[in-house]
Amino acid sequence: MNILVTGGAGYIGSHTCVELLNGGHCVTVIDNLVNSSEESLKRIEKITGKKVKFYNGDVRDKALLQKIFSENKIDWAIHFAGLKAVGESCAKPVEYYDNNICGTLALVEAMRAHGCKKIVFSSSATVYGTPEKLPLDENCKIGGTTNPYGTSKYFQEIMLEDIFKADNEWTVVLLRYFNPVGAHASGLIGEDPKGIPNNLTPYIAKVAIGELKEVGVFGNDYDTPDGTGVRDYIHVVDLAKGHVAAIEKITRGGVFVYNLGTGAGYSVLDVIRAFEKACGRAIPYVIKPRRAGDIAACYANAEKAGKELGWKAVLGIDDMCASLWNWQTKNPEGYKK
Ligand code: NAD
Ligand code: UFG
Repeated sequence: MNILVTGGAGYIGSHTCVELLNGGHCVTVIDNLVNSSEESLKRIEKITGKKVKFYNGDVRDKALLQKIFSENKIDWAIHFAGLKAVGESCAKPVEYYDNNICGTLALVEAMRAHGCKKIVFSSSATVYGTPEKLPLDENCKIGGTTNPYGTSKYFQEIMLEDIFKADNEWTVVLLRYFNPVGAHASGLIGEDPKGIPNNLTPYIAKVAIGELKEVGVFGNDYDTPDGTGVRDYIHVVDLAKGHVAAIEKITRGGVFVYNLGTGAGYSVLDVIRAFEKACGRAIPYVIKPRRAGDIAACYANAEKAGKELGWKAVLGIDDMCASLWNWQTKNPEGYKK
């Protein structure tokens, strides 16, 4: 199939392009490179030995979308393009709602105009807000999000469901990612955050390599086994394969919602220990106050994706840390080198 991958130069998008190409699909990418580098697309080609067709532009650019859909017969769109920094979204709600909501609207409008009505959307565990129970399954209530980023994901899910309600020819797949980490085994593609990372594992990697002094552990007084926050970390390659499973398995119209996680929760201290094992170095850390907006624990019941898509995360926390360390040491400055 020919897949339009919006945001395909980014972290999860690039890993998904590799799995799509390895699975025999063709890939067309639109990305405005606001949080990525064209180098990642070259690396995808290096890993797979296959070509990526690239349009450098904004997913809100309706004329460009018109051109893409006219020039290519697209079977599915996998929609990663969007802004994703939780803290930044609180300072820039206009930019976040504009980019994320308007981007999705422009995309579905162009898709409809060209009779392409199959979309996979990058949603997030953040739509569950404070979990009503653990592990979280797809029937748990959503909403109660605490930042514009999370709210934009919640709104986009509702919008896509409404589009299906109005026209049952649509296939809408909402993939709720838990915490994607790690990198491709080749060490050629990985997460390349700009500036000081906000997320735990890239921060740890920069401490391990000596670029940052110590990890700040945001709170050790949560109601969790060791008091630090618990999350469901999922290897980005497993996550990428979840997208391939979705487009290959889902053949009828409808709204399909899946948690993509491992079902296992690890604390911040567990992750630090696992990373120490992967890099063979001690990771200095200090306990800091809780970070505003954080919840104690969040992990998935991912059985639905197992049953319906035949997909299951297979890589564990040690693989996640080892692959991140491999990427970090091979690319200390990300895609700059
Ligand atoms: P990323 O920033 O690495 O990738 C997003 C890509 O979209 C980037 O390449 C960026 O340049 C591009 N982009 C942004 N706005 C665009 C626009 N208007 N037009 C064209 N391209 C645009 O982020 P990621 O981690 O790969 O995340 C991909 C998707 O998954 C996002 O929608 C994100 O919200 C979602 N998600 C990510 C996580 C996570 O922890 N990484 C968790 C849950 C959901
Ligand atoms: N943490 C630290 N120190 C740090 C960074 C994080 O202790 O320097 C802790 C957090 O408090 C939390 C855990 O590590 O307990 C994970 O934090 P991340 O920032 O890595 O991830 P979050 O769970 O906060 O959020 C991530 C993405 C969101 C996404 C969510 C669910 O950033 O976009 O996973 O998918 F919505």
